[in-house]
Amino acid sequence: MAESMKGLHRTHRCTELSTANIGETVTVMGWVQKSRNKGGIIFTDLRDRSGILQLIFEESDCGTENFKKAEQLRSEFVAAAVGKVEARSGAVNKNLATGAIEIRVKELRILSEAQTPPFPIEADSRTKEEIRLKYRFLDLRRPDIQSKLMLRSRVATKVRAVLAEEGFLEIETPILIKSTPEGARDYLVPSRVHQGKFYALPQSPQLFKQLLMCSGYDRYFQIAKCFRDEDLRADRQPEFTQIDMEMSFADVDDVIEVNERLLRKIFKDAIGLDIELPIPRITWQEAMDRFGSDKPDTRFGMELKNVSEIVRDCGFGVFTGALENGGSVRGINAEGQGHMPRKKIDALVELAKGFGAKGLAYLAINEDGGCKSSFAKFMTEEQIKKLVEAMEGKPGDLLLFAADKNQVVWDVLGNLRLEIARSLGLLDKNQFRFLWVTEFPLLEWSEEQNRFAAMHHPFTMPMEEDLDKLDTDPGAVRAKAYDIVLNGTELGGGSVRIFQADVQEKMFEVLGFTKEQAQERFGFLLDAFQYGVPPHAGLAYGFDRLMMLMTGADSIREVIAFPKVKDASDLLTSAPDIVDDIQLEELGIEIRAAKVEDAEE
Ligand code: AMO
Ligand code: AMP
Repeated sequence: MAESMKGLHRTHRCTELSTANIGETVTVMGWVQKSRNKGGIIFTDLRDRSGILQLIFEESDCGTENFKKAEQLRSEFVAAAVGKVEARSGAVNKNLATGAIEIRVKELRILSEAQTPPFPIEADSRTKEEIRLKYRFLDLRRPDIQSKLMLRSRVATKVRAVLAEEGFLEIETPILIKSTPEGARDYLVPSRVHQGKFYALPQSPQLFKQLLMCSGYDRYFQIAKCFRDEDLRADRQPEFTQIDMEMSFADVDDVIEVNERLLRKIFKDAIGLDIELPIPRITWQEAMDRFGSDKPDTRFGMELKNVSEIVRDCGFGVFTGALENGGSVRGINAEGQGHMPRKKIDALVELAKGFGAKGLAYLAINEDGGCKSSFAKFMTEEQIKKLVEAMEGKPGDLLLFAADKNQVVWDVLGNLRLEIARSLGLLDKNQFRFLWVTEFPLLEWSEEQNRFAAMHHPFTMPMEEDLDKLDTDPGAVRAKAYDIVLNGTELGGGSVRIFQADVQEKMFEVLGFTKEQAQERFGFLLDAFQYGVPPHAGLAYGFDRLMMLMTGADSIREVIAFPKVKDASDLLTSAPDIVDDIQLEELGIEIRAAKVEDAEE
């Protein structure tokens, strides 16, 4: 039976005690990690979020009643103990912060009993994630998750402190809003009062933070929940958190400089890392050309090389055909991998096909200078020599080539580069390589919609020198947009915003909005721009991604207290779920076609 803690007051968390407290009488409370009855003497490990402390019970110290209670202690019981701090009677446990002490208990209270948990509460659990998420309240007791969430809290606190120092105001923006365009699908909330109408949950606070700039708040930030109905991956959740900010009278360099100071301070405070400033910057074009990706992982080399000019007149139809179609031929050098068995090379070819390639050409340079290749027979010795030279190939290297439209070649080689690095163990989680990618294209062509779409969002400012191309060659216009990339993950992104009505109108026109459509969707922002708008710019980090990289986690699920799984459901609460008919009726909603499996439930 549960006892009350009446009259007791916790004096310390478990690991706040040390040899310095020897002789003091203390009160500790927590969960039983384990309890061992050695006959006449009971050792119990008590756990709280700070760590573990050993309790020791002997009948002569605590009396018969308390000793009997101690005999009942099982894993995950919640207990309070009053006792004296002593030097450990047995061997010192070097693995525990409190390994040199123990509490000789005088009084014990069992505050709550516990069933045997479905998996042990310990670090590095090998229990399946599905089970852990179903019992997330137990999973969250595990010390490795607790330390990640405690670090997350610490980083949030530091972010607030640094941004306050930099003159930012923390202002909340609404969750029930009119749809904001960030390119994903909206989550919708039906209105009861206005039947047939819907709120959207924000994909980001974008429009509101721009309005705050119009209203003179100068610098805004928010740790903001965002909602996007998109396919989930290890670094994507349907609801996630941004560290979101906006600055008035600011251009690219202003945003980058504030954020470099912010990153430096939070990484130093959280994990003692010294980020060297300034963080290197490369343009989007250079990122694609060198790494085949707009979020390059620069922890290793294996950069792409464009060999189009070398193979332009060769006899290999795959290469010349791609060039004739306006594409390119590019390669990577997997140094020292020339000995890779045929089977493994074939697997790389399959992998390349998965990324959209029609094939993958390879050339392994033998130690004796000869080569093993899928296309050498179509080329002269001189051409091969030039190709190898261009790739800086040495005996023992493996050269891989893709020929296709630029975007396909980049995707294929960019992904192969990562895959090979992963398999060679080149991705060291303790190395942190930051990079700014700048000058993104303003627009990307959407095959699906047969029109241009904004690469970042429709409020991103084109680069001044490209403005005249908005009419003639929209695809070539670069934007004042930037991403912060860490170890191949897009940590955050932002841009300088359009603040001139005529440029914004032109932008909507290029995106295929009529004046009426633009007014209907974004009228409130365009109106605000009519009443005095400062030039402004901003950025948002994925806070979950930041914590994933900082803690070396494999997925953002590990740094979110209550994450959702791949199909966007919550295994703990079983959301989403059906609702009462009355609720639907009030909303004026009728379910037309429930999925069969739901109906069967
Ligand atoms: P963007 O859409 O690039 O920009 O989002 C900013 C950052 O948010 C993170 N992120 C996500 N994290 C987890 N799950 C998701 N589904 C998810 N989607 C995005 C990424 C990304 O870099 N309003 C603009 C910012 C601006 O222009 O100021 C925006 O939202 O780390
Ligand atoms: P094929 O002529 O289709 O038998 O291809 C000859 C070699 O070229 C094989 O190794 C293919 O994998 C490779 N290959 C085919 N298409 C491409 C491509 N688009 N880029 C690079 N290599 C290719």
